[in-house]
Amino acid sequence: MAIEFHKDSQTFHLHNAFISYIFKVLPSGHLGQLYYGRAIHDRPDFDHLFETAYRSMSVHYFDGEPAYSLEHIKQEYPTCGTGDIHLPALDAAAPNGSRLLDLHYQSHTIAPGKPPLEGGELPSTYVESPDEAVTLTVTLADALAGVTVDLVYTLYEGLPVLTRHAVIGYTGEGTLRLDRAMSFCLDLPDMDYDLVELTGAWARERHVVTRPLAHGVQGVYSLRGCSSHHFNPFLALKRHETTEFAGEVYGFSLVYSGNFAAQADVDPYHVTRVTMGIHPQGFRWDLHSGERFTTPEAVLVYSEQGLNGMSQTYHQLYRTRLARGEWRDKVRPILVNNWEATYFDFTEEKLLGLAAEAKRLGIELFVLDDGWFTNRNDDHGGLGDWQINYEKLPDGIQGFGAKLHEMGLLFGLWIEPEMVNAGTALWNEHPDWVLHEPGRRPQQGRFQYVLDYSNPAVVDWIFARLCSVLDGVPVDYIKWDMNRSISDAYSCTAASDAQGMVLHKYILGVYRLYRLLTERYPHILFESCASGGARFDPGMLACAPQCWTSDDTDAVERLRIQYGTSFVYPVSSMGAHVAAAPNHQVGRITSLTMRANVAIFGAFGYELDLTALGEHGQDLVARQVAFVKKYRELLQFGTFWRLKSPFEGNEAAWMTVSSDQRTALVGQYLILQEVNAGYRRLRLAGLDPDRLYRVTRLGSGARAAGQPVTAYGDELMRAGLVTTDEDPASEGDFASHLYLIEAAE
Ligand code: DGJ
Repeated sequence: MAIEFHKDSQTFHLHNAFISYIFKVLPSGHLGQLYYGRAIHDRPDFDHLFETAYRSMSVHYFDGEPAYSLEHIKQEYPTCGTGDIHLPALDAAAPNGSRLLDLHYQSHTIAPGKPPLEGGELPSTYVESPDEAVTLTVTLADALAGVTVDLVYTLYEGLPVLTRHAVIGYTGEGTLRLDRAMSFCLDLPDMDYDLVELTGAWARERHVVTRPLAHGVQGVYSLRGCSSHHFNPFLALKRHETTEFAGEVYGFSLVYSGNFAAQADVDPYHVTRVTMGIHPQGFRWDLHSGERFTTPEAVLVYSEQGLNGMSQTYHQLYRTRLARGEWRDKVRPILVNNWEATYFDFTEEKLLGLAAEAKRLGIELFVLDDGWFTNRNDDHGGLGDWQINYEKLPDGIQGFGAKLHEMGLLFGLWIEPEMVNAGTALWNEHPDWVLHEPGRRPQQGRFQYVLDYSNPAVVDWIFARLCSVLDGVPVDYIKWDMNRSISDAYSCTAASDAQGMVLHKYILGVYRLYRLLTERYPHILFESCASGGARFDPGMLACAPQCWTSDDTDAVERLRIQYGTSFVYPVSSMGAHVAAAPNHQVGRITSLTMRANVAIFGAFGYELDLTALGEHGQDLVARQVAFVKKYRELLQFGTFWRLKSPFEGNEAAWMTVSSDQRTALVGQYLILQEVNAGYRRLRLAGLDPDRLYRVTRLGSGARAAGQPVTAYGDELMRAGLVTTDEDPASEGDFASHLYLIEAAE
């Protein structure tokens, strides 16, 4: 791994065993992008890769040199008004109203390691020792405007990963108004890609959508104040022929949980400009002399091993160098959550009955979801005061937690600290702590309003309130929920010229509260949540190592949701529960086995009334729990491979392989049963081709395990695993099988 600066040619070459990223200081002082892709040999210069051409109607930077046009030069961080006529990375207004910016190279530093992002509160990937990465900071400046930009690049040692962000500084008079400050810009020389995005809505998050790039702007975004159910702060560009297993793909992921824009802008000469960052709509950040603004971090991954290769890199990086805290490397406890078991309708007796059954079946953690505080028997009231409901819990949450601990269970608690309901004491005493414009009625979402987390006093108050609830209570796990999109983003306590900062400051406030809570309660396992998966993003993963994937708990729907989520996020981060049948969202009836066979490829738990399952169901749950305990190290931390996409057919499959390649588990799912169907083979991945394995189809429900067979890894990966079902009628729809692959020698 190295970051070279070739002085004579003014060329930067960032390279490790996997990737090269090359740009140079051009004769005009701008940074020109030359190459990003698979590692190539280093050379003193790559000037032959610099291209520009005379194009009619373009403007030229040097008098008399019509071919030198910034519009036609691939750049690292383009601005506007001085020749580049595309959507820029940076757009700012100077005190005189000028939006012209012309950034020139000033200096650079190269240092081992990776410092945290300037400003302190934005989450980012990190290193545990300086030799894991090297960081280049290139400083650009526009002297007339008094603007500096630090472009920060970190190259990881053992991974095809480059992180980027920018820090914008102002040294001029008066105020510089930032209207657009993207985290990075990358100009790629052609457009022969498919754009891959994760899109959806509530209860169908992160479906995989692929479309060929076309000229013009295409991409995804959120303006909801959270990263959203609708789009994820991620996109990938893959070659048309790239598959899950082979071919080139560039991944782009933003470590941010608020409004974002991620886009590819293809010009008529087929140059593809990728940018990603805070969405400019509604964003405005004023910088006074000496102030600086840090953008969120973007994580760029390059893979030549197809989409699986890209995802495995994200999994490894995000699981080990983005997630943090005591729980990062620990297997996750198997939980039961009372939400779909009781909703708001519970008593302590009912909960303890559920807990006792959970304990009997081997479950380790009981999560008390929404409804444990006063005025909370439905979703119309109660949020904000956090007063314990002694009618439901006679000994409070302290007593309830103690009873769970006596039973040998961990205790988990739900909170929704960013919201308030009308009529609560918090609402009555601090009307100016709610996001709204005085004189204008704010919009409700799920009957609640949004607290102004851009105001540090609100965050401090909520922190103190939560501490008074949590101190002395034996809480082991917290589920932090957030159940509405943000509207009325006006802060009553901020100045008129600071309103464009509210949504970014809001999310910084969320990060700060997470930090305060995780510092005070380091042993607590946090799970983030936003009405299911509306904030399943890298920013949240830095705060909480797992996230509730979706409110849709149906096993078939979950195949698609978990498959899409796995494009970026590790299995250990995906909260996945076995829920009741008929399913509460879609009414579908699937077997307990199918439900578990999907959920085990996630942070596993149950979310149904275990006491109502009957002896047979309870026995099966006990066996599932024992199975997950035995294999959860592999399931949560193994290398995950997607094998068959539920977006492409009736069958889905995935597998996870241990790091020593001695053990693997395959999940195979047939959505609708087929009669007299064709033969079925599943080509596996990630095994040692030279190792002999024992392959066992595990028992499912009433069906006994198959007879083990042996096969070499190459055979399983090339010839495939025969999965033709001899008895489809006994399986019915929504059939699933697990295959255990173990080293036979
Ligand atoms: C939305 C979450 O996604 C659910 O799991 C549950 O916690 C409810 N909120 C509670 O109101």
